[in-house]
Amino acid sequence: MTTFWSWYVTILSLGTIFALTWLIFSTRRGQRPDTTEETVGHSFDGIEEYDNPLPKWWFMLFVGTIVFALGYLVLYPGLGNWKGLLPGYDYLDTEAKTPFAADVQVAGGEVRNAGWTGVHQWEKEMARADAEYGPIFAKYAAMPIEQVAQDEQALKMGGRLFASNCSVCHGSDAKGAYGFPNLTDNDWLWGGEAETIKTTILGGRQAAMPAWKDIIGEDGIKHVAGYVRSFSGLKNPEDTGIDLAKGKEIFATNCAVCHGPEGKGQHAMGAPNLTDRIWLYGSSFAQVQQTLRYGRNGQMPAQEAFLGNDKVHLLAAYVYSLSQQTEEK
Ligand code: HEC
Ligand code: HEC
Repeated sequence: MTTFWSWYVTILSLGTIFALTWLIFSTRRGQRPDTTEETVGHSFDGIEEYDNPLPKWWFMLFVGTIVFALGYLVLYPGLGNWKGLLPGYDYLDTEAKTPFAADVQVAGGEVRNAGWTGVHQWEKEMARADAEYGPIFAKYAAMPIEQVAQDEQALKMGGRLFASNCSVCHGSDAKGAYGFPNLTDNDWLWGGEAETIKTTILGGRQAAMPAWKDIIGEDGIKHVAGYVRSFSGLKNPEDTGIDLAKGKEIFATNCAVCHGPEGKGQHAMGAPNLTDRIWLYGSSFAQVQQTLRYGRNGQMPAQEAFLGNDKVHLLAAYVYSLSQQTEEK
C-alpha cells in the first residue's frame, strides 16, 4: 500500500472511532443520574419517550466495543501498513518479529508481509502438521500398499483422509451413491489391485461411455437395453416389443469392444461389468435407456497435485482394505 493510502485508511478508521467515543461521552454528559417518570414530551401514535439516561450496562457495551476495536487494530494488521504486534513469521526463524520490521523475503524470493495474517496462521499450522505427520506418511509410503492395509494406525489415518477428501462423493461409508461408485463391493470399474487403486486416485479417471441415440436409434436402444438387462436376470416390460436377438446383434457390433463379448466389462476402459447386478446409473428399463441414449461420463478428480503421493498411498491402502473386508464375509 502506498503511504498516501496507508494514512488515508488509518486516519479514517481512527477518526471514526474517536468521533464515536466523543459522541457517546458527550451525549451522556448533563443527563440526570436516576430514572424518572418524566417524558421528553414527544408522542408518536400515543407512544411516549421517558427522559431516562442510557442504562449503565448499555453504555459500557459501547465502551467495550471501542476498547475491543482499538485492541484489535493494535494486535492485527489492517491499519494501512501497520503489521500488528502479533508475530507472523517466527516459525521461519526470521528476525522479522517486530511490527515495524521490513517485509520478509521467504524461500523462493517472494516478499511477504512480516505480520500476522490468516494465511500465515494457516501456513504455520500446515508446517507444524507436516513436521509432525510427514515422517509417518513417509514411513507408510515406503511400504507396499497391501502391507499398509494391515496396519491399524495407517487405516485410521487413511479413514480420516477419506472422510475429509472423498466422502462428499463416495459417502462416509464409501458405499457410493447414484453416479458415484461403491468402493467396498469388490466390483471395480478400473481395477481393484492395490496399485491400480492408487493410480486411480493419483491421476483421476474419466469414463467415456458414448451416446447412442444418433447411432442405433430409439429402437436399437430399446432392444439392446433389454438385452443388457437380461444379463443380470432382470425382467423386461412386455408391451414394448423388445427383440433380444436384435439387441444381441447390436451389442456384439457396438458394445463388446468396451464391455467385452459377454458384457463382463473391461478395466482398461473403465467399462463396467453389466452382468453383476451392480448398477452405477440405475437398472430400471427407463434408466438403462437413458444411459444408452445420452452416454455417461463419470469423472474421478485427480488427487496427486492436491494431496501428494504419500497421502494418496495411505488412501489407496484404506480403499483397498474396504474391499478386502467385503471379500472375507
Ligand atoms: C468406448 C467404450 C464403450 C462403448 C463402445 C460402450 N460403452 Fe457402455 N460404458 C462405458 C463406460 C466407460 C461406462 C461407465 C460410465 C461411467 O462410469 O460414467 C459405461 C457404462 C455403461 C452402462 C451403465 C452401467 C451402470 O452400472 O449403470 C451401460 C448400461 C452400458 N454402458 C451399456 C452399453 C451398451 C449397451 C453399449 C453399446 C450400445 C455400450 N455400453 C457401449 C464404455 C463403453
Ligand atoms: C467429485 C466427486 C469425487 C471425489 C471428491 C472423489 N471421487 Fe472417486 N470417483 C468419483 C467418480 C464419479 C468415480 C467414477 C468414475 C467413473 O465413472 O469411471 C470415482 C471413482 C473412484 C475409484 C475407482 C472405482 C472403481 O470402481 O474402479 C476410486 C478407487 C476412487 N474413486 C477413490 C476416491 C478417493 C480415495 C477419493 C478421495 C481422495 C475420491 N475418490 C474422491 C468421484 C469422486
